[in-house]
Amino acid sequence: MSEPNAFMKRSPGDAPPGDFPPDIPTDRPTPARAYGMHLGSKDNFEVDRVFVQQALEAFPGCVDIARQNRQYLYRAVRYLARDVGIDQFLDLGSGLPTDNNVHQVAQQFQPQARVVYVDIPGTGWPSPPAYRRVHPLALGYGVGHPTGCATS
Ligand SMILES: C[S@@+](CC[C@H](N)C(=O)[O-])C[C@H]1O[C@@H](n2cnc3c(N)ncnc32)[C@H](O)[C@@H]1O
Repeated sequence: MSEPNAFMKRSPGDAPPGDFPPDIPTDRPTPARAYGMHLGSKDNFEVDRVFVQQALEAFPGCVDIARQNRQYLYRAVRYLARDVGIDQFLDLGSGLPTDNNVHQVAQQFQPQARVVYVDIPGTGWPSPPAYRRVHPLALGYGVGHPTGCATS
């Protein structure tokens, strides 16, 4: 698991005003952070934890689904890189960095493989310098409507 940013370990109530980058919503849960929690990520806030607890009470199977989805992603990228020889990937709706990110799987089989990661700005992705602390291989981050992207 990627080392979480220090500022993301705290709850919004712990943070002095203005301590969080403006593009990170801390007053509401985001899909990327909630999904990351299902995979064991610590990159979340109290609002995300409350939301995930409610989701688990309503639908306990959601953790299994998230983990099986992630395993499917691993198998799909492995097949494309190892068996088909694909070395360029567009990960649309990548979520937050976690274990077995697409470039990490692809580069096991295609060391030169490159990935463009795209997700919605403001759903939980940090600003560029902070993002590179979470994801050291990120080379860039572009913000535009409706997506932001980083490349590895
Ligand atoms: C369930 S997570 C999947 C994460 C990862 N791809 C995986 O399979 O483990 C879905 C992600 O899609 C993102 N997403 C949803 N709509 C999107 C859009 N229109 N453009 C970019 N990302 C989007 C969400 O923010 C979220 O991070």
